Amino acid sequence: MTTRTPGAAADPAWAAAFAAVPRAAFLPRVMWPYDEEREAFDALDLARDPEGWRRAAEADVPIVTQWDDGAHAGSGRGAHATSSASTPRLVAAMLAALDAEPGMRVLEVGTGTGWNAALLAHRLGERSVTTVEIDPGVAATARRALRRAGLRPRVVVGDGALGVPDGGPYDRIIVTCGLRRVPREWLAQVRPGGSILAPWGTAFRGRDALVRLTVRGDGTAEGPFLQVVNFMPMRAHRTAHPTFPPGLPLTDTRTGAWPPHGMWHPFPFLAGMRVERASHAVQRHDDGHTQWLYDLSGAGWTAAVRRERTGPGVVVRRAGERPLWDELLAAWEWWRSAGEPPVGRFGLSVDDKGETPWLDRPDRPVDATV
Ligand SMILES: C[S@@+](CC[C@H](N)C(=O)[O-])C[C@H]1O[C@@H](n2cnc3c(N)ncnc32)[C@H](O)[C@@H]1O
Repeated sequence: MTTRTPGAAADPAWAAAFAAVPRAAFLPRVMWPYDEEREAFDALDLARDPEGWRRAAEADVPIVTQWDDGAHAGSGRGAHATSSASTPRLVAAMLAALDAEPGMRVLEVGTGTGWNAALLAHRLGERSVTTVEIDPGVAATARRALRRAGLRPRVVVGDGALGVPDGGPYDRIIVTCGLRRVPREWLAQVRPGGSILAPWGTAFRGRDALVRLTVRGDGTAEGPFLQVVNFMPMRAHRTAHPTFPPGLPLTDTRTGAWPPHGMWHPFPFLAGMRVERASHAVQRHDDGHTQWLYDLSGAGWTAAVRRERTGPGVVVRRAGERPLWDELLAAWEWWRSAGEPPVGRFGLSVDDKGETPWLDRPDRPVDATV
């Protein structure tokens, strides 16, 4: 595990808050930090390994603090991580991108451990900060940690998708869970000219990109994507995986094409803007990878396998009629023919008709660019 100074603030304006509010004060005694070498979340218990626990608390790694919406007990891993403390570097980058100043009113959606709310309250004043968390147990633990740190921002238990109307209008909303659509309630709770900073993505991949939307007074919002991030989705925005009927016709083909699938590569995030009603997962083998594609209505799946053992090339097994691999290759060709634009050249427009991702300018929607 690499150790760096936690919260080495991206913006000097936040340095005092990071120095005064350590992440360790918001972490539970048993937690699951991400081990970069093992690519896994392993439990650390403060009572059993105080030194390892402190090292992890101060490392620039995400730390899972709850599994399976609290249904999971014990120190083993649960099935799904449902609350966590983000990496200090990402927390710092998001606070810098939020561009909030003392005197502004801020709503945070996704209280989690309470650390980000504490940083906000330290810099902006506790009366300026409201944070909303859907899980009552998580919210109660965060409230206790905030009090121990001497900070009392308003902690609300509820569905953050509804915002917190009686605390607004807000100058900023900062969201620390992944969105599949922007709740329109927020547009009415941010003052015109204010902004929403949120991880936004599609069902395609568990990667989002941070988007910074400027809210206009007419119920619309617009702004650029900033960077690829990895957040657990907002509860109601989790992808429901279909079951596939038995006996789907199987087709095997061989190809050479292999679109990029790396954890932080922009393409899987951008592909979701082109390949609709589908999801994508990557399975790692000791000598290669499988890219899985699922039609979200249950009409079929595709597994594309590239392994050293089976020689060069990619074996594509398709179940059902939908040509998901061809759709992914078409999206890759679209991205390459556009000159492989980075995430920062894309943006999002939100209005009463829907959400439209665009490339370079709002009048160049992604699904109209060839
Ligand atoms: C990555 S954690 C937040 C990290 C947090 N900001 C911190 O400083 O520790 C995401 C949190 O969002 C919460 N969440 C998910 N859906 C939500 C919703 N609809 N409204 C409010 N909170 C939600 C989860 O329960 C989880 O605690």
